[in-house]
Amino acid sequence: MYYKQELAGILFEILSHEMDVKELEMLIEKPKSQLHGDLAFPCFTLAKLKRKSPNVIAQELSEKIQSPIFEKVEVVGAYINIFLNKKLVSEAIIAEITKQKEEYGALNIGNNRNVTIDMSSPNIAKPFSMGHLRSTVIGNALAFIVEKCGYKPIRINHIGDWGTQFGKLITAYKLWGDAEKVKQNPIKELLTLYIKFHEEAESDPSLVEQGRSWFKRLEDGDEEALLLWKWFRDESLQEFSRIYELMNVQFDSFAGEAFYNDKMDRVVKLLEEQQLLVESDQAQVVELTDEGLPPCLIKKSDGATLYATRDLAAALYRKENYNFDLSLYVVGNEQSLHFKQLIAVLDKMGYQWAKKMVHIPFGMMLKDGKKMSTRKGKVVLLEEVLNESIAMAKNSIEEKNPNLTDKDTVAKQVGVGAVMFHDLKNFRMNDIEFSLEEMLRFEGETGPYVQYTFARACSILRKATWQTGTDIQISSTAWEKEWKVVVLLTEFPNAIKRSFEQLDPSQIAKYIVDLAQAFNKYYAEVKILEENAEQQARLALVSSVTIVLKEGLRLLGIEAPEEM
Ligand code: ARG
Repeated sequence: MYYKQELAGILFEILSHEMDVKELEMLIEKPKSQLHGDLAFPCFTLAKLKRKSPNVIAQELSEKIQSPIFEKVEVVGAYINIFLNKKLVSEAIIAEITKQKEEYGALNIGNNRNVTIDMSSPNIAKPFSMGHLRSTVIGNALAFIVEKCGYKPIRINHIGDWGTQFGKLITAYKLWGDAEKVKQNPIKELLTLYIKFHEEAESDPSLVEQGRSWFKRLEDGDEEALLLWKWFRDESLQEFSRIYELMNVQFDSFAGEAFYNDKMDRVVKLLEEQQLLVESDQAQVVELTDEGLPPCLIKKSDGATLYATRDLAAALYRKENYNFDLSLYVVGNEQSLHFKQLIAVLDKMGYQWAKKMVHIPFGMMLKDGKKMSTRKGKVVLLEEVLNESIAMAKNSIEEKNPNLTDKDTVAKQVGVGAVMFHDLKNFRMNDIEFSLEEMLRFEGETGPYVQYTFARACSILRKATWQTGTDIQISSTAWEKEWKVVVLLTEFPNAIKRSFEQLDPSQIAKYIVDLAQAFNKYYAEVKILEENAEQQARLALVSSVTIVLKEGLRLLGIEAPEEM
């Protein structure tokens, strides 16, 4: 709510500092309907404090509230409703956005401190799953959001490039693999081998033993095992990078699980020194009974280290290397226990910064109501999904705008943006149903809808002659039809703040849908291009809308084509 602070300040003075400004600010509400004004102050708390009837207080106070920015002050029962001066507010916000451009909405909460974001983190030799897509898209948006809030994001791809599955894969490759096939189509071929391993292992348990021993050889640095591992890893990373390129996602680090192979002894030692390690079933664990959690496994009976041990080493490494102020882990809901344990162990080790680690879980991607899995052949390959989405976007562009130049670039921006927006528009914990048709609709709450609205606004600006300037004059006193759009423009910084506080990009997605809807309604009602006294101010409003829509999409990692 714009001017909330102003109102709180005025009340603070009227009340002769009897109540705290912050407290006053928290009491200020936004009326459900704009018919009741733009701000409302309920007098119940004050009534208790002053032992007076709230209605009387509302009446008394309202008479003293005066400011050029408030057009009308009205009392309804115990509420003081305040109507903002539409002309002044509209002029002010347009001037602000015109001046700040894409900087508008930036907040300085972070003071340039670092935020590490563990995101994407797919597993080598397996297809990039929907879960990894969600992590990539959410992590990428959070990186832009924390950056907008004045932090420095560090995007870390904690690649799953180590673990018993490599023993299985090497076994399968040695038995049934074909080097040429792997080179031609690495992930598909490696996945086929991996699936075959699991199928065969059901009737031949000796395979499991072979897999285990290949993994042991790998951990012991056996040359053949290492060579195969490195080859699988390189091929997989190359495939992943194609997907990242499509989505325009960059990373600052690819330090994956293997990176911590030589950094775990130290963790085990530290735990030993602090006498936190105990034997249990021949394995080494950290007891977390006091924390109400099951013990955290640090070392297996055969000495092999575990996922958790690597994450402990990774957390120490990140703190020492990046001195993070906040350390985010964008990883599926099903790993919640793992991250609780991780944080609890670090806390037990005495690290204050463990409190600055946050697991950011998300729900599942469903197809026809069922989980999409990668193991049993029921796979949806993400690259295929993205390419299909791009092809569908291209079709609808051919239909709607056959003369568009550079259709392929736009189709990519729309197709990929659709998939990303669909992921980000709901609170991340919700499961989402996967449907390309739904994602690519040009109406409703979709990426293409917001992009299309942006392009439409750009086209208005192209058709008109107008001057950008911060000195916007509105001639009529009441900008009624514009008001909804104006109010939404003032709310952008708040949407950013909320999405940061809740680490939830959907706050921004919802906001830009609201703005797009309000703008389209306005566009249908008002002839913006008509030459009259309001034309320049209206064009400046349209320009402000384009700035905010584009910046909102950018914060979600989505591009905004000017024509589509
Ligand atoms: N590779 C893991 C998986 O696919 C996710 C890794 C998440 N990051 C982490 N630091 N544990 O399940």
